[in-house]
Amino acid sequence: MTTPLHVLVTGATGRTGALVVQKLQQQPEKFVTKGFARSEAKVREVFGTTEGFYLGNIGDRDRLRAALEGCDALVILTSAVPQMKAPPEPGQRPEFVYAEGGTPEQVDYQGQINQIEAARAAGVKHIVLVGSMGSTNEQHPLNRMANGNILIWKRKAEAYLINSGIDYAIIRAGGCRISPGGSASYWWVKTTRCWPIHPMAFPPLFLAPM
Ligand SMILES: NC(=O)c1ccc[n+]([C@@H]2O[C@H](COP(=O)([O-])OP(=O)(O)OC[C@H]3O[C@@H](n4cnc5c(N)ncnc54)[C@H](OP(=O)(O)O)[C@@H]3O)[C@@H](O)[C@H]2O)c1
Repeated sequence: MTTPLHVLVTGATGRTGALVVQKLQQQPEKFVTKGFARSEAKVREVFGTTEGFYLGNIGDRDRLRAALEGCDALVILTSAVPQMKAPPEPGQRPEFVYAEGGTPEQVDYQGQINQIEAARAAGVKHIVLVGSMGSTNEQHPLNRMANGNILIWKRKAEAYLINSGIDYAIIRAGGCRISPGGSASYWWVKTTRCWPIHPMAFPPLFLAPM
């Protein structure tokens, strides 16, 4: 009998994070799962309980460290989320803005560094980071959204993890359709096991076995 792996999932109330938490929780013989989220109300809404969750902001490295105590692995699923300023006029493109404290630099770069460093301090052995396809393309239109350079900051955080010395897997999501019977298409970029770069289609709940 193998000992279950202790895993913390951040962004646990997000679209992908919630699925990953649920999938891991369904396999208690393999995983002891904790979620990290900033909103107690949202945790209750999504999971019906706050048991097994740490509430905190990824800007708070001490809180992250406390949540990671005793964990073997960390799954990073946080992301900055642009908000539409107002519904666009007919024929106009919508304008977006990032909330204060919620810019890609703050969430996707500094927030991920905080998670990686808190994991290092807690002795975590493996980090799975879900980033985004297109992050090596500086001209990607997503970078222009609210002038946030979101993919550039995500890429910088990937580089930080790669150079951290911690065992890792980076997944660049290409788009995720989370619906019954839907599929999710993801790209493996690199793992320390040196798997080749190639596109792969995964079923919606693909992340947990990694
Ligand atoms: N979903 C897709 O189709 C897709 C496609 C391509 C790439 N990806 C990548 O996959 C990853 C996950 O995406 P997703 O769509 O699942 O994200 P999401 O639904 O937008 O969730 C992001 C999560 O991050 C949390 N968060 C943001 N700032 C935080 C902070 N300061 N402290 C604590 N938590 C914070 C949010 O908390 P709240 O719940 O409280 O807001 C939310 O739970 C991202 O890197 C994204 O770029 C996703």
